[in-house]
Amino acid sequence: MTRKILVTSALPYANGSIHLGHLVEYIQTDIWVRFQKMLGNECHYVCADDTHGTPIMLRAEKEGVTPEQLIARVAEEHKADFAAFHVEFDNYGSTHSAETKEFSETIYKKLRDAGLIEKRSIEQYYDPVKQMFLPDRFIKGECPKCGAKEQYGDNCEACGAAYAPTELKNPYSAVSGAKPELRDSDHYFFRLSDPRCQRFLREWTRGGALQPEAANKMQEWLGGEGESKLSDWDISRDAPYFGFEIPGAPGKYFYVWLDAPIGYMGSFRQLCNAKGIDFDAYWKQDSDTELYHFIGKDILYFHALFWPAMLEHAGFRTPTQLFAHGFLTVNGEKMSKSRGTFITARSYLDHVGNTEYLRYYYAAKLNGTMEDIDLNLEDFVARVNSDLIGKYINVASRSAGFITNHFNGEIRYFDDITEFKNHAEELRAEVARLYEAREYGQVVRLLMKRVDRLNEVFDEAKPWLLAKDPSKHQELQQRCSLILHSFKVISVLLAPILPELAEKIAKDFFGLGQKFTWDDAITATNSIQPYQHLMTRLDPKLIEAMVAANKGSLQPAAPSPQPSPARGGSVHSEQRHAEHQQHTASKEAAQAEKNFEPFIGIDDFMKIDLRVAKIVNAEQVEGAEKLLKLTLDIGEEKPRTVFAGIKSAYDPEKLKGRLTVMVANLAPRKMKFGLSEGMVLAASGEAPGLFILGPDEGAQPGMRVK
Ligand code: MSP
Ligand code: ZN
Repeated sequence: MTRKILVTSALPYANGSIHLGHLVEYIQTDIWVRFQKMLGNECHYVCADDTHGTPIMLRAEKEGVTPEQLIARVAEEHKADFAAFHVEFDNYGSTHSAETKEFSETIYKKLRDAGLIEKRSIEQYYDPVKQMFLPDRFIKGECPKCGAKEQYGDNCEACGAAYAPTELKNPYSAVSGAKPELRDSDHYFFRLSDPRCQRFLREWTRGGALQPEAANKMQEWLGGEGESKLSDWDISRDAPYFGFEIPGAPGKYFYVWLDAPIGYMGSFRQLCNAKGIDFDAYWKQDSDTELYHFIGKDILYFHALFWPAMLEHAGFRTPTQLFAHGFLTVNGEKMSKSRGTFITARSYLDHVGNTEYLRYYYAAKLNGTMEDIDLNLEDFVARVNSDLIGKYINVASRSAGFITNHFNGEIRYFDDITEFKNHAEELRAEVARLYEAREYGQVVRLLMKRVDRLNEVFDEAKPWLLAKDPSKHQELQQRCSLILHSFKVISVLLAPILPELAEKIAKDFFGLGQKFTWDDAITATNSIQPYQHLMTRLDPKLIEAMVAANKGSLQPAAPSPQPSPARGGSVHSEQRHAEHQQHTASKEAAQAEKNFEPFIGIDDFMKIDLRVAKIVNAEQVEGAEKLLKLTLDIGEEKPRTVFAGIKSAYDPEKLKGRLTVMVANLAPRKMKFGLSEGMVLAASGEAPGLFILGPDEGAQPGMRVK
């Protein structure tokens, strides 16, 4: 029976770039969806940008564009990043859509009619200069516990204390610097404390929709039977706010987290409209379809409490299961700008290029729990090169030559291979079970064990000897045929993880007219095409260059991990935490340009090898918007090639023969147009213009600048 399945990944905020942390989730989901589709299930995968809220509104203002312009630009960037990592959505929408607006209003009205919405006046900080109420993260001051300066309104980064913004000493607005005033305002609350919500959530927690760790968290949030730990949820914000106005409440807007999950419905509605899918079949209360949300553990609170409670009481179905995953660490630590491990999708693409390396590595590390996963960069290179290239690709390339050269590409067995076939069936069933349970690490281990075995079989057969003896040619053909057939079985089963490579193998190597289907794992193989190069080794230099390039660049900081249980717990701190995350990205990027870098010692400075360089040639780069290709003489035997983003400011003809200054020991960086072997220095500021440096007369190419 084909299952009908709707799958979502969390909606990324529209005010930051996609980074390797995000990709854990989107790759995890994409693998699962590809697997379901290969099985022949009707599976739809939707996502969208999460576009509303104060940070996006303020960032757009700062950039001098409308929020709509800002989110349109980011949506294009996000879509391109996802496509490059082979994350294939059936629809990628936006929460700022007519569909999401309509569902938000419908759900709100249903909750209101059910008596679950309450209007209440609350006291909140207001910025009298900017004339707006301030979210906690936009209020700063001294920590009430330890006195540390410049702390945010929700918790102290110096001592870890959590508090309300009204407890800060000498508070000021992070937007205008003004002293905030306390003002009253009416807010709308979703009455989570209502016994109906409590009862429903307790039942839902027991209903099997949650992983064991998540169910435990829920117990903690809900409290014991009869206890009422949930507080009502503030779902409104005052104008000015970028979002949807609440029906019947002029000047009041839905809080971003109210319409964010509704964005799942909005995006799916668009898909239904385009493809003629029955929306209600998926969302009506007694639906027999399946609904899965892949999310990070940091947003479990919103998906396990608010979201199902909203759906249930608005007359929609609730999720079949939430699949929460852990957080990405790089080299065992939180991604960090100063260590160069805060890596955006774009930066990976620019330096490494092949995204299936990362898909493979993540798959090898992923399982069905909420444990964090670590990207160890050395291990990454080693695994890709030893497993993927050294074992898996290698076994095909080694065997293929014999079949091509001696048997014209024909795959043929002379003995009975029933047992062999049964084996493939069993393997396929086991792998399917593991994919379904999101145990991708086990899939990879199991299949790589098979690959190891194939390499052994190859070595034991010594085909190079068989080839020399014509009387052994039947054996040669049979042995290599079995290896290549097994290679096909494994390739089919790896296809959800390595979709592009699998397609290449299916079409170019096995000569199939189409991508692999799940049944290709159990059908005969008849022939192969001459082996053509399938995948290159990962050069560790590319990783070094990527990390070097990210060190101290203007990348936003990594979002902070889940709040510790001690600090988490209440609705308010969870909410604050989410706002914090949304805010960090824009804040850091804006401030980084204005502030000077922290002091460094002379030793650190001396690590940068600056040299006087003579521009012996400068030319346009076809297809590059900003780059010029420079040939630089720094007194070495061979001049260096550097791609410099100075096209807007310089005519290449006028640069020829000039002296300038370059960083000679910046790790070489592979760019779309070639290898760049250093960097020339140029000044720029807020005013337009870009100015390269020039030494005083008499300086010679190669002289060190220090
Ligand atoms: N906009 C909200 C989600 C709304 S869903 C209705 C949000 N956005 S986010 O951009 O911060 O994160 C998107 C997803 O990426 C979340 O599930 C989050 O957990 C995940 N990750 C973000 N950083 C991550 C890591 N460093 N590691 C693993 N997953 C991470 O939250
Ligand atoms: Zn403190």
